[in-house]
Amino acid sequence: AAAYVVIGNPIAHSKSPDIHAHFAAETGQDMRYERLLAPLDGFVATVQEFIGQGGRGANVTVPFKLEAYALANSLTARAQAAGAVNTLKFDGGDILGDNTDGVGLVTDIAHNAGFDLAHKKILLLGAGGAARGVLLPLLERQPAQLTIANRTAAKAQQLVQQFQPYSGAGCILSACGFAEATQQYDLVINATSASLQAELPPLAASVFGPATLAYDMMYGPQPTIFMQFAASHGARVRDGLGMLVEQAAESFFIWRGVRPRTDAVFAALRAQL
Ligand code: ATR
Repeated sequence: AAAYVVIGNPIAHSKSPDIHAHFAAETGQDMRYERLLAPLDGFVATVQEFIGQGGRGANVTVPFKLEAYALANSLTARAQAAGAVNTLKFDGGDILGDNTDGVGLVTDIAHNAGFDLAHKKILLLGAGGAARGVLLPLLERQPAQLTIANRTAAKAQQLVQQFQPYSGAGCILSACGFAEATQQYDLVINATSASLQAELPPLAASVFGPATLAYDMMYGPQPTIFMQFAASHGARVRDGLGMLVEQAAESFFIWRGVRPRTDAVFAALRAQL
């Protein structure tokens, strides 16, 4: 069986082995997929050892996505734009680095939530790795407007400079602090890590309307504090569980050339939360 792993530290909590086991069974692929804990100072050695054992690919999670980016000897455009790699494919001596987080988010929004991003006004909250990782796939869907709002507005401004070349003729890409984002948006995406501390970006309620989709990249058994806030102002809400499943499906496709169905896995994970 072809061998795959998810590498991180910590790694015991990762749901990726369950997701890929579902995908493999459903598509009839002969593969195995396991968790691999790398020492904090031993990511590259862990990857090289796995390649030496015949490993064919890996997902990479916290805190190694930047090291995976540096290790890859070829990078997809979306990995370059993200500045981080969550998917490695080992092919002979070649190490291909890709990033499937952004396409996972966009697929979940466009396909699973049935929300067409074209010509929409999008507010992206956060300017760290999670925000940067999804900007290119979002811009490729040709929204009318994409505003990046961040606690540290200068970091949002840097992202605008970096991504200006990817923003189409009809798209206004801009940056601001949370206090300056006041107009109503069609889609508000929380890419800050504030939910981890049960905190809420200080956001005006006016950004939400009845047709707004409020999306949190985090997920859990309960709606996040961001989702609760958005719902209390009339928005439709969605958490990041679908993004998790869709980024996994894209990695599976990169490795195996087959697109798995994602609906049953999504329902099973939801039931287990
Ligand atoms: P990640 O990889 O999750 O994006 P990161 O690169 O450390 O992690 O970025 C964290 C993001 O969440 C940043 O946009 C950060 O804002 P700053 O750039 O101002 O630091 C944002 N963030 C973290 N805690 C927050 C909080 N309590 N309220 C609002 N934004 C927060």
